[in-house]
Amino acid sequence: MNFLSLIETKRDGAALAPHQIRQWVSACSGGGIPDYQLAALLMAIYFRGMTEAETRELTLAMRDSGDVLQFPPDPRPLVDKHSTGGVGDKVSLVLTPLLACLGFRVPMISGRGLGITGGTLDKLGSIPGFNIDLTAEEIRSIVQKVGCVICGQTGRMVPADKTLYALRDATGTVGSIPLITASILSKKLAENISALLLDVKFGGAAFMPTKEEARELARAMVALGRECGVNTRALLTRMDAPLGRAAGNWLEVKEAVACLEGRGPEDLHTLAVECAAHLLMQSNKAKNLDHGRGQAALCFASGQPREKFDDMLAAQGADMKEFNKRLALDRTAPVAMEYRASGEGFIVGCNARVVGEIVRDLGGGRLTKTTIINMHLGVDELVKPGETVAVGSVLGRVHAVDEAQAAAACERLRTAFEFSNARPELPPLVESVVQ
Ligand code: URA
Repeated sequence: MNFLSLIETKRDGAALAPHQIRQWVSACSGGGIPDYQLAALLMAIYFRGMTEAETRELTLAMRDSGDVLQFPPDPRPLVDKHSTGGVGDKVSLVLTPLLACLGFRVPMISGRGLGITGGTLDKLGSIPGFNIDLTAEEIRSIVQKVGCVICGQTGRMVPADKTLYALRDATGTVGSIPLITASILSKKLAENISALLLDVKFGGAAFMPTKEEARELARAMVALGRECGVNTRALLTRMDAPLGRAAGNWLEVKEAVACLEGRGPEDLHTLAVECAAHLLMQSNKAKNLDHGRGQAALCFASGQPREKFDDMLAAQGADMKEFNKRLALDRTAPVAMEYRASGEGFIVGCNARVVGEIVRDLGGGRLTKTTIINMHLGVDELVKPGETVAVGSVLGRVHAVDEAQAAAACERLRTAFEFSNARPELPPLVESVVQ
């Protein structure tokens, strides 16, 4: 294959032919093209876009780059949800066991962090022993037994996304509608699910900053998902403030466990219930959204999803003794430093982009493809928009490797908050539904 001519075709704004896309994807998953040429093509796509036909071909070629899961007949529908990425977004950790307890099977193929947004795989990577690199047979067997699994794109499952995802992260080419569409849908189509819920984020820390761009992305993914036979819908959700009170891999796992145990945070609980309600409706298990919300909230309160989370971890090799030991600790980073308010008033905003950058720069996220993440670093105890603070209240707590790093991060955290004397009007987290 003459890869240079593919780059030139796209650079000049023409469409790639289906066979060129297939050749590119199969070569890149086999490691046959140097990173600099792949990166050049990604940048050309970022600026020139792709037609609907090209995006479809890319998605299907990426799906077919590895195994496509096959499951035995079972009354439990196969479903999943996927987020376009946010700061503090640990919904998948809470929702997956919740869905399994609601009578679904969830074979979730997820990704690492992208840019300043966290990735479900990195969060789970903070659990000792937890294995994300599963074969199709292992995924099938755990899903049939436990009801849910969370694993990664690997050499076997959607390998093309594994290569392209890491390169996009390191080359500033994530925020492209065709590339996001193909990345997400290739993983979801490889799961062979019947219903998919997409959480498309917009706002200061999202890849799609405006509602209009997010809607365009949501429409593209919903249309292609449906064309490929999956009942797909999307929620447009705000990503101006972090979701929950924690950002950073291990800190988010801890917060997800707290949420499964009924200890909040409220926005995470609400979004998980909302996602479950939509999937219940999409699978004809709820008459309407309120009926779905009721079922999901009841299931949450039963405590079963918390047990299911442990079952999933154990099935994927986690060292449960060590996991429980760490859960009981107040911190696992060398230093935890509180940042306190010097005035009083209402919190109007907590800038998720600033928080995401702090976590990344502490060492909790990646700047290059090969960055090794320190799983224990990040921020927790964040105050939320709408809450009041007094002089000396904790606004957030930084987990760092030493005092100097923690103090520098606290100084940056100061710039994340916006205060007011008046109670702010908070818009709903879910702005609208695209279906
Ligand atoms: N999540 C993915 O899996 N891929 C993207 O491109 C963005 C978010």
